[in-house]
Amino acid sequence: MSKPILIFDSGLGGLTIYQALQQAMPGLAYHYLADSARLPYGLLTEQALTEGCVALIETYVKQAQVQLVVIACNTASTAILDVLRNRLSIPIVGVVPAIKPAAELSASGCIALLATTATIQRPYTDELIEKFASHCHVQKIACPELVHMAEEKYRYGYADTIQLQQLLGAVDPLVDTLVLGCTHFPILHAEIAACFSKKMRIVDSREAIVRRVRSLVDSQTEHPVSVYTDTSAVDSALFEKLVTKGFTKITSSFEAAPQEQYEMGSFKAV
Ligand code: DGL
Repeated sequence: MSKPILIFDSGLGGLTIYQALQQAMPGLAYHYLADSARLPYGLLTEQALTEGCVALIETYVKQAQVQLVVIACNTASTAILDVLRNRLSIPIVGVVPAIKPAAELSASGCIALLATTATIQRPYTDELIEKFASHCHVQKIACPELVHMAEEKYRYGYADTIQLQQLLGAVDPLVDTLVLGCTHFPILHAEIAACFSKKMRIVDSREAIVRRVRSLVDSQTEHPVSVYTDTSAVDSALFEKLVTKGFTKITSSFEAAPQEQYEMGSFKAV
């Protein structure tokens, strides 16, 4: 039986990556780890972000015998990938803004990157733009508000489209391709598309991550399971949503670090 894949994010955004992977490779076992206790990552210092994520992921990987980790968070990936790869011997797949496909697809040569403030400011993002989109005009737009909007939409099905419209009013009229550089943002894909009167191409990193993981994983397991663990409380709305997404074990663990605090398979209702 193959070992599980661990998908990690600050909250529910990485579930967009989980869903793409689960759909493409339903025979694998998936563990999802949400660090909701520290959401949003976009507001943490790089040091606090790195130390917390590395401790949490290392502990989980040892506990659950994971074969591969997907850092399903642009904000974390653009900061912690090198540190984590130096500490773990298993493959670590990072999710970074889909600048390359956007630059290839854009006809106007004008693209916009929507991401958290931290991702927008990271040198890693500038290097991606320099490497893959130096021939384009790239408008970088920090929209941390969309993280909470996406969390709300995932749990309760509601998004404040007036606020969204105001935020996206900043997009340059010449832009024809929008990069969703935060894994939370595809949760708002339909609402984002509806903010534009013209046809806007909207790209994210899901396809690339599916291809990368497919090339790295072991054979399928006979009993695929999906396990969800959160460093914060799981309320009943989220619990019900997760069940519909195929999670059979849902755990709420209130502490981030020591391994005995993981209670795999149990659910503390709030
Ligand atoms: N989902 C995250 C990302 O892709 C982070 C959101 C946040 O915690 O600020 O960047």
